Amino acid sequence: MPRKLFVTTALPYANAPFHIGHMMEYIQADTWVRAQRMRGAEVNFVCADDAHGAPIMIAAEKVGQTPQQFVAGIAAGRPQYLEGFHIAFDNWHSTDGPENHRLAQDIYLGLRKNELIDVRSIEQFFDPVKGMFLPDRYIKGECPKCGAKDQYGDSCESCGAVYAPTDLKNPYSALSGAVPVRKSSEHYFFRLSDPRCVAFLEQWTQDGKLQPEVANKIREWFTKAEDGSGGLGDWDISRDAPYFGIEIPDAPGKYFYVWLDAPVGYLASLTHLFARRGHDVDAYLADPAVEQVHFIGKDIVYFHTLFWPAMLHFSGRKVPNHVFVHGFITVGGEKMSKSRGTGLSPLRYLELGLNPEWLRYYIAAKLNARVEDVEFNPEDFVARVNSDLIGKYINIASRAAGFLTKRFAGKLSADLGVEGRVLLDTLRAHRATIEQLYEEREFGKAVREIMQLADRVNEYVDQHKPWELAKQDRPADAGPPQGGGTPSAGGAAGAGASSVALHDVCSVCIEAFRVLTIYLKPILPALAAQVEAFLKVAPMDFADAARALGHHTIGEYKHLMQRVDAKQMDALFEPPQAARVEPGGEPIADEIGIDDFSRVDLRIARIVNAELVEGSDKLLRLTLDVGEGRHRNVFSGIRSAYKPEDLIGKFTVMVANLAPRKMKFGLSEGMVLAASHADGKANPGLFVLEPHPGAQPGMRVR
Ligand code: MSP
Ligand code: ZN
Repeated sequence: MPRKLFVTTALPYANAPFHIGHMMEYIQADTWVRAQRMRGAEVNFVCADDAHGAPIMIAAEKVGQTPQQFVAGIAAGRPQYLEGFHIAFDNWHSTDGPENHRLAQDIYLGLRKNELIDVRSIEQFFDPVKGMFLPDRYIKGECPKCGAKDQYGDSCESCGAVYAPTDLKNPYSALSGAVPVRKSSEHYFFRLSDPRCVAFLEQWTQDGKLQPEVANKIREWFTKAEDGSGGLGDWDISRDAPYFGIEIPDAPGKYFYVWLDAPVGYLASLTHLFARRGHDVDAYLADPAVEQVHFIGKDIVYFHTLFWPAMLHFSGRKVPNHVFVHGFITVGGEKMSKSRGTGLSPLRYLELGLNPEWLRYYIAAKLNARVEDVEFNPEDFVARVNSDLIGKYINIASRAAGFLTKRFAGKLSADLGVEGRVLLDTLRAHRATIEQLYEEREFGKAVREIMQLADRVNEYVDQHKPWELAKQDRPADAGPPQGGGTPSAGGAAGAGASSVALHDVCSVCIEAFRVLTIYLKPILPALAAQVEAFLKVAPMDFADAARALGHHTIGEYKHLMQRVDAKQMDALFEPPQAARVEPGGEPIADEIGIDDFSRVDLRIARIVNAELVEGSDKLLRLTLDVGEGRHRNVFSGIRSAYKPEDLIGKFTVMVANLAPRKMKFGLSEGMVLAASHADGKANPGLFVLEPHPGAQPGMRVR
C-alpha cells in the first residue's frame, strides 16, 4: 500500500505579497513532498490565503476596496512566485471560501455540543468614531513606564516595557485618532482549561511526535506557577462586528477570531481539491492510513499544537500526525518583516533572471530538522552554487557527454569496467540513507552526502582522464570523428583499447550523473526534467537509481545550468533603481539650505468644511483650522480628485505663511499640500497629504 499524505504549509496572510520567509517554508515542504512522491507516496499538498481579520479589513478600507477585492488582488499575485520557484501545490484556496465557512461553523458547533464554549463579558477599548473595538496594535499612547510617545498597546519600543493597552497614558486610536472608551461586550471562549482538553493535549504533545525542542517549549506552557498563573488559559475566539470573518452560529454580530478559522482552511482547501476531482473528502479523512502533516514556522507553534488539535479532537475529527516546525530565514541577521519589506525580494530574484533552483539548492543545503534559523549569506550562496552544484555535480555530465556524442553517437557502453561498476554500486548503496534523510527533513545532510558521492565520481574521472584517453585514441583513428554515423560506426568494436576505456569511463560518468540527479531531484525538479530529456529517459523515481541504463542512447548535451555571477548578488540587494527616470516626471529642484526651508511655515490643518465653488470646475473652498482660534479660507485646485464630503474632518498640511491672494471667488489664505505627477495628463491623480494619526491642528511640520 502506498503511503497516503495530506500535507500543508501555513496559510499566508493575504495582506502582502510573499517574502523570502514564505518561499523558504514552501521550498522545505515542496522538497519533502517531492521526495515522498518519488518513494511512491500519494500526496495531497495544499495551501490557501489566510483572508480574514482586522488588519486585512483595515488595509482594504485604506485603499478603498472591499476586503474580498483586496484579498483577490493579493491572490492574483501568488502564481508567479509559486510557479517561479517550482512549488507544486495541488490546490490553492482561500479561508473566505464557502467550504471554510461551513467547516469552521461545524467545528464550532461540535465544540459547543461538548460543552467547551463559554460566553463571558469582557471590557475593551472601543473607537467611538470608527464604531469598532480596537485590536491592541491599533491603540497607541504614551508608555506608562518611560513616557515615550506613540507607543503600541502591548509594548514600548523605546524602553521595552510590556503592558496592557489599558495601561497607556493618553491613549488614542491609531485608526481615527479618537480617544478610545472602555466598553464591554460578550465574547465566546474555547475552554482549553477544561481538564479534558488539558489531558488530551498533554498526551498529544508529549507522545514523541513533535520535535524535542518544540515538545519542551509546550511543556513550559502547561506548567502552572506557584501563584497559580500560567497553564492553559481559555481562548477568546470571537470578535465583534465590524469584522472580516465568519459569523458565529446563533450569535448575531459575532465573528470567529481569524485564528479560529485559519487552520480550518487546511481542510477547506483539501475539500475544494477533492470536489474538483469528484472525490469524497470525508472518506479520505476517515481513512486511518492518511497522515496529516503541517509545515509551519516557529512563531505559530501555539496555534498548531494546542488550539488546532484540540479543535479537531473535540469536534470529533482526525488530528494532525505531524507538525514540522522550522526556524526563520534571516538576511544580514534580520528576520523578514512585512512592514519593512527589506531583505531579499523573491520577485526581484526572478526578475533579475537568477535561477530559482539555485535558491532551492542553497536553502535545502542549509536546512535541518531542528528549529534553527537560517542565514542567507550572498558569498556563501555563490560558493555553494558554483563550487558544489556546478563544480561537482553538473560538471560530471559536461565532462563526459561531449565524447559520448562525438565518438560513440551517444550510445552508452554496457560493460563499464570493474572500477566503474564498483563506483556505481557505491552510489546506489547510498540510496536508502538519502531517502531517509529526506524523510527526516535533514536536507543539509542529504546534500552533503550527495556532494560526497559527486566527489568520488570526480576522483574517478581524474584518475581515468577521459580527455587523455581521447587524445591517445586520436592517432589510431581513421580520420575525423564520424558525427551522426550509425551506432556501430562509433562503437567500441574493433577500436583501440583507449577507445574502449574512453567509452566505458564516459558511460560510467553518465550513469553516475543520472543516479546523482535522482538524488537531487526533490530539490532540483526542473533541472532533473532537463536531464531526463537529455538522457532520453522517463521521469525518474528513487527506485530508478537501482536500474542501469545499459545499452541506451542519450541525446545531445546542452548546457544544463549557469554559474552565479557575484554581480547578480549585488544587483539583488541593490535598492531598485526607480530613479532612472525623473522622479514624478520632473528633475529635483536646485539645492537649498535648511534656512531656506524653514522660511516656509508648514502647519497641520483640520479641514473644518469643504464645498464646491460656484463658477469653478477646478476649485474647492476649504475652511481650515490651524489652531489659531480662527478659521482660514483656502481655495484649492483639487476638485477633480475629491468630493467635499470626503475631506471634512480630515487632517492635512498647509503652507501657513503664504501671502494671502485675492481671487475671483474671494481671499485665499494659504495653500494645502498635494502630490501629483508633472505630466498630469499621462499620469493623472492628485493626492492631498495627510499626517499620521495623532497630529493636532497648528503643529509645525519641519
Ligand atoms: N496566517 C498565519 C498562518 C495561519 S496557518 C493556519 C501566518 N501567516 S504569515 O504570512 O505571517 O506566515 C506564514 C508562514 O511563513 C508561517 O509559517 C511563518 O512562520 C512563516 N515565516 C514568516 N517569516 C519567516 C521567515 N523569515 N523565515 C521562515 N519562515 C517565516 O502566520
Ligand atoms: Zn517605555
